[in-house]
Amino acid sequence: MNDMATILNPESDFSAIPEVDGDVFTAPLKRPENVGEDWLEPEQRQYSSEDDAVWNDLFERQMEILPGRACDAFMAGMQKLHLNRGGVPDFKELSEELDRLTGWSVVPVPMLIPDHVFFWHLANRRFPAGNFIRTRETFDYIQEPDVFHDVFGHVPLLADPTFADYMQEYGKAGWKAMRYNRLKSLGSLYWYTVEFGLMMQADELRIYGAGILSGPREAIFALEAESPNRIMLNVDRVMRTDYVISDLQPTYFVIESFEDLYRQTVERDFDQLYRSLDPGFTYANAAVIDVDYVVHRGSQEYHLRGGRGSNANPV
Ligand SMILES: [Fe+2]
Repeated sequence: MNDMATILNPESDFSAIPEVDGDVFTAPLKRPENVGEDWLEPEQRQYSSEDDAVWNDLFERQMEILPGRACDAFMAGMQKLHLNRGGVPDFKELSEELDRLTGWSVVPVPMLIPDHVFFWHLANRRFPAGNFIRTRETFDYIQEPDVFHDVFGHVPLLADPTFADYMQEYGKAGWKAMRYNRLKSLGSLYWYTVEFGLMMQADELRIYGAGILSGPREAIFALEAESPNRIMLNVDRVMRTDYVISDLQPTYFVIESFEDLYRQTVERDFDQLYRSLDPGFTYANAAVIDVDYVVHRGSQEYHLRGGRGSNANPV
């Protein structure tokens, strides 16, 4: 691996894993012994018939909810990649199809991986997907991204050329965020787009965020509930906004199209933005501010009643 180019020209060479400066906070993850610096597993796991049955049941449950709620690009990607053929998909077959469509591939990782390694894979059009699958005990909710969340939730949109380009640009943006020690801000952008994003599709709200698409509760809440805010996406605003990781979102951000998302991101001067950002978040996750273009101002009733911890109804 040639590290020199990365050091000399930190934001134009994405061939090597970026170096993380000592000041930059990254989550303390312990690398399993069977994986190298790239955190890739030697190959995809062999799944039992019970694993395949869990996949099939999760798949069926989502397909009862998603038609008419997921964006068309997601449904089209799922068809193109034949994700409905039954059982946990084979990453090699998926990668061959994706390569033909957009030049992406899916690579197996054992667990959540460090940000800088994640960025490096994305910048090279590789999507790291969790190798393991949840069990019946964690069927409804699992905090660590498993193969169902990663493949069902994320991979279909990688078949969309514009979204695929956005994901690569996001990976490249990681280098700059590390230089400014603003990984949290960039993480917010990922959270409110790739994981929990909504879009306007012919004047109708639809879902494109994988965190919503791969779970049972949030699809209806995100689109139809009174509680959450729905606000048009502004990259500067989103990168200043806090988020919750273990409950439904108090606010969703809406894009006009993937072209709009791509343009807003690549045309933004991130050097200038990072210099103006505070190290922490400026806006609470339920806040509505003056500059917002509000699609729906939420009642926040669900969160005011205590959210998941209080078994509140997602109204
Ligand atoms: Fe995810």
